[in-house]
Amino acid sequence: MIQSVMPTYARAPLTFVKGKGSWLIDENSEKYIDMGAGIAVNVLGHAHPDLVQVLQKQAENLWHTSNLYNVSNQKKLADVLVEETFAQTVFFTNSGTESMECAIKMARKFHYEKGMPERTKIITFEGSFHGRSIGMISAAGSEKLTKGFGPLLPGFVQIPFGDHEALIAEIDETIAAIVIEPIQGEGGILPVPDQCLKGLRDCCDENGILLIFDEIQCGMGRTGKLFAHEWAGVEPDIMAIAKGIGGGFPLGACLATSNAAECMTAGTHGSTYGGNPLATAVGLEVMRHVNTPAFLNNVNFLASNFRQSLEALVANHPTIFKSVRGSGLMLGIECVVPNIDVVNAGYDNKILTVPGGANVIRLLPALNVSMNELKEATQRLSATASKLEASL
Ligand SMILES: Cc1ncc(COP(=O)(O)O)c(C=O)c1O
Repeated sequence: MIQSVMPTYARAPLTFVKGKGSWLIDENSEKYIDMGAGIAVNVLGHAHPDLVQVLQKQAENLWHTSNLYNVSNQKKLADVLVEETFAQTVFFTNSGTESMECAIKMARKFHYEKGMPERTKIITFEGSFHGRSIGMISAAGSEKLTKGFGPLLPGFVQIPFGDHEALIAEIDETIAAIVIEPIQGEGGILPVPDQCLKGLRDCCDENGILLIFDEIQCGMGRTGKLFAHEWAGVEPDIMAIAKGIGGGFPLGACLATSNAAECMTAGTHGSTYGGNPLATAVGLEVMRHVNTPAFLNNVNFLASNFRQSLEALVANHPTIFKSVRGSGLMLGIECVVPNIDVVNAGYDNKILTVPGGANVIRLLPALNVSMNELKEATQRLSATASKLEASL
């Protein structure tokens, strides 16, 4: 029988009715510790009182006017993002996919307007994930994402992750941009080494190519800096963000240098809802909390402790877990047993984790999680592993 909700997700049999901080309560009043945060979205946890207040206040005044008019919260949030990043200008969206679509359109238009219409190809990396539109599945290119959805959009070339020679071999005067997640998220928490990001920047500069970072999952404080690429000290020309910036309210953005965005004039791109008063009110409040040295230092402090306890967890359960990887509070545990078995067994121990590629379970907690909550999560993961060991 066809389900009323199209079954495109293999959903866990859990229905949550309330959230508070790093905890979710289901319809049977069972309390779960949330190490997924809605897949790296709820950076301030569930129902943060300041976000609730800001949203309520905005809802009482103005929900939506369209981008036919100035949206004051949008301008304020753009000003903050410009102040705090490499970018000079921002286009607001409702999701990560849309932010990436804007990035790709901008890269092509940039070269077109500069008199190089042959520069249309976009280099991406195997294992990457940039969204589910036809454009973005064509960009990532994996069979898992694209099978049956052809014809795909032409003009994307996927390079094996970390294969420098393959990358260099593709570089010519038809390349418009290189797109990379500084840490692959869906692919299984694979950080790109700093020297590779630097090498990409140099390669782009030498060859007149734009560099696009997809920080939709790894950005917004998750690695202990506002954006993950800051660790490497390199800057992109264009960056797509979403997820954490809205703290659970749908919001995304495409940030760019003035040079890259020069071509994005009136009428070239648009969105009915992008950057609407509600979303940008929340985005401003999220930025106010996350973008402080104290908040980001605390993310680093929590992350180093959590990572240590996860290393011990892995060492104690070698038949279940293999290794820990990632950066900040974007951590992955590579599993020996199928990762989905660990995620499912976690539900019995009232812990939520997220499966990822390369047989990884992802731990992407709220960034204001407490040390005690991280200890509790580690204990529940240990109990989960012990239960799985007993069934091997
Ligand atoms: C790195 C990355 N890019 C793009 C996307 C797509 O974002 P959205 O689902 O908001 O369209 C995601 C979502 O998981 C992501 O992790």
